[in-house]
Amino acid sequence: MAYETIIVDVEDHICLIKLNRPDALNALNQQLLGELMTALEEADANDSVRCIVLTGSEKAFAAGADIKEMSTMSFAEVNSVNLFADANVRIMQIRKPIIAAVSGYALGGGCEIAMACDFIIAADNAKFGQPEINLGVIAGMGGSQRLTLAVGKSKAMDMNLTGRFMDAEEADRSGLVSRVVPAKKLMEETMSAANKIAEKSLIAARTAKEAVNRSFEVPLTEGLLVERRLFHSLFATEDQNEGMEAFLEKREAQFRDR
Ligand code: HXC
Repeated sequence: MAYETIIVDVEDHICLIKLNRPDALNALNQQLLGELMTALEEADANDSVRCIVLTGSEKAFAAGADIKEMSTMSFAEVNSVNLFADANVRIMQIRKPIIAAVSGYALGGGCEIAMACDFIIAADNAKFGQPEINLGVIAGMGGSQRLTLAVGKSKAMDMNLTGRFMDAEEADRSGLVSRVVPAKKLMEETMSAANKIAEKSLIAARTAKEAVNRSFEVPLTEGLLVERRLFHSLFATEDQNEGMEAFLEKREAQFRDR
């Protein structure tokens, strides 16, 4: 499919999706969000893809929802198109691992899209924020929920109420990102992490993602039960057999996603 606001490249089992509206710091308009969801769903369905990487430019992962596009919308319009709800639901349904590689600004909807990915690798110039309050609105795609789960109430309130940005070092310290790397090495480090994931059994990787995500939805006892059931279920796969045999035979496992 031909995209206008993103660039998609599949190579060596990794689907790299680059947000590409440089004139607007990758602001998320409805076309971009639509194209992004289609690309994610295509990657999820493409058997040669084993991991997805989502990134932006050096200056901006994404500076938020497109303010120009939103500015003239009435409540009735926003309510009728159910603005951004569709993207939020569809991204949660992607079963393959998604890494967000964030350089520069990840603000508003940009921060929210990054948080909807499975983990974030940040360049040392990354800046995260939920500055919607400056526009007279609030976060609309998880910025009051996922951010709170990631960094706790105090920092989430601070960011949502003052609109201040969090730099990469604070984001690392607060658990918003999994690691910080020099800006110049962002893609190298991210692709290396993606390659590591791509080497695993895709069944196990999908299951690990499902298990961790479950922890946000259910109480601990229930989550532990789900985890145990998923763990047991993997003993029905050839990959479990191969993984354990390979360890005992001191060789690399050859997973076949079966
Ligand atoms: C539309 C945007 C934009 C946005 C930047 N631009 N952010 N256009 N929507 N969210 C455009 C600018 O208008 C400008 O276009 C060009 O990108 C470069 O931006 P500058 O402001 O000139 O760059 P700079 O001075 O470096 O400042 C960078 C910035 C600032 C700090 C990121 O652009 C900024 O504050 N942007 C808005 C951030 C924001 O409020 N995000 C939340 C949006 S609400 P021109 O044509 O003038 O060159 C939201 C709701 C989420 O996300 C709901 C669910 C998705």
